[in-house]
Amino acid sequence: MHLSAQMLQTFNALFAEAQAAGEPEPSAMTLATLSEEGRVSARTVLLKHVDERGFVFYTNVGSVKGRQLAERPTAALLFQWKHLRQGVQVRIEGPVEPVTDAEADAYFATRPRESQIGAWASDQSRELPDRATFMARYEEVERRYAGGPVPRPPHWSGYRVLPERLEFWYGVPYRLHQRDFYEWRDGDWRHALLYP
Ligand SMILES: Cc1cc2nc3c(=O)[nH]c(=O)nc-3n(C[C@H](O)[C@H](O)[C@H](O)COP(=O)(O)O)c2cc1C
Repeated sequence: MHLSAQMLQTFNALFAEAQAAGEPEPSAMTLATLSEEGRVSARTVLLKHVDERGFVFYTNVGSVKGRQLAERPTAALLFQWKHLRQGVQVRIEGPVEPVTDAEADAYFATRPRESQIGAWASDQSRELPDRATFMARYEEVERRYAGGPVPRPPHWSGYRVLPERLEFWYGVPYRLHQRDFYEWRDGDWRHALLYP
């Protein structure tokens, strides 16, 4: 279920066009995950890498999303690019895999030092008694790694969403939108147009 060269090229071309069109945060995508008992959660994350294997984001693996992905390794992603053409959406669904430690290390090393320290200090999605507690944890991590590099925390890594269904949605006036839908079936991508 690797993306076809043509699907990847369409995605990359739309992404570049969204950037050029002044889309404020083109890499922002809604990520929906599911708990064991069927509770759905959605939040925004940033796309950090895409290739024929899928769509990569990074997070705290102990967060709500991380725990849900451990229970049910499946997700939906949604990009909405309002400034592109007459509005474009890209919808992606499929299983989720952790990235390798080497991939996570390489990306973590490119982050600003403050974000690296924040990744250690934040117990993402857990209850925080007050802001001062968080700031004290931040300062403690800052002292711990003073004068040296900040290693990647064991609770911080990435996930790759492997597309099984992907839709390019193009806005057209009067709701006469164009929907290009791809589904991975029997070892190949099947393309269909959908009614808007
Ligand atoms: C524009 C934007 C980008 C974000 N990017 C990320 C991200 O890449 N990774 C991440 O863990 N959280 C990111 N967040 C924060 C998440 O939306 C969310 O608040 C956090 O990950 C906790 O989600 P959870 O409790 O459902 O796990 C971003 C938020 C916004 C508004």
